[in-house]
Amino acid sequence: MQKTCAIKITDLRFGWRKNLPEVLHIPEFEVDRGERIFLRGASGSGKSTLLALIAGVSLPSSGDVEVLGNTINRINGSGRDHFRSDHIGFVFQMFNLIPYLSVLENVALPCHFSRSRKQKATASGISLHDEATRLLQHLDMAHADLLHRPVTELSVGQQQRVATARALIGAPEIIIADEPTSALDSEMRETFIRLLFQECDATGSTLLFVSHDKQLESLFERHVTLEEINTARQGVN
Ligand SMILES: Nc1ncnc2c1ncn2[C@@H]1O[C@H](COP(=O)(O)OP(=O)(O)O)[C@@H](O)[C@H]1O
Ligand SMILES: [Mg+2]
Repeated sequence: MQKTCAIKITDLRFGWRKNLPEVLHIPEFEVDRGERIFLRGASGSGKSTLLALIAGVSLPSSGDVEVLGNTINRINGSGRDHFRSDHIGFVFQMFNLIPYLSVLENVALPCHFSRSRKQKATASGISLHDEATRLLQHLDMAHADLLHRPVTELSVGQQQRVATARALIGAPEIIIADEPTSALDSEMRETFIRLLFQECDATGSTLLFVSHDKQLESLFERHVTLEEINTARQGVN
């Protein structure tokens, strides 16, 4: 039994510039391990800013961000990069796929930055290539003609599946999805989220799913709005 939270924020404050109002002041926010949580907030309210703090891409002006029991803001820059590669799978709003790599190469990429994710991906004796294919299969993206295609030739829905397989490979403990459904129609959104749940269940990963779309909220066991946890007075956007 692990008692540490997946994410635990204590008295976090963040502003983009000293002379601008704070974007975030979060006295307390916790996500349990294995939880699937939906975080909703209006556009410009600070959702992506919060995710960057959780992933250790940005640092708070004060307060602490604990991820899997590690206070990520007290780790140095390269340590944070390693920690993120090992433990966090990120699905970005614009997917951030590498245009000159194929579908399979994009999915396998995190395992080239993280030895532990490579070990987990290949633990059952299968190759990285086969594990990437297996994940793509689950996401209905493993047609032979797709695997080696440049990602620039994919539809938005297909790109999203590649980005998701890339976040899932090597079973990182935390999956963070930043508005990954905004480019999809509503039917595909729900199908996609259910697939994501299945994959997170299979590995026991914690899912932090961020969106401005209230319609998706009911699919999740817990939902929170940024406004509920953030007490910073919002400046003019
Ligand atoms: N790199 C940046 N530099 C300065 N301000 C930023 C930067 N990124 C975001 N902001 C500002 O921070 C606020 C929150 O933005 P963001 O976290 O992207 O919102 P959301 O993801 O909820 O749409 C906005 O006012 C935005 O203009
Ligand atoms: Mg955003």
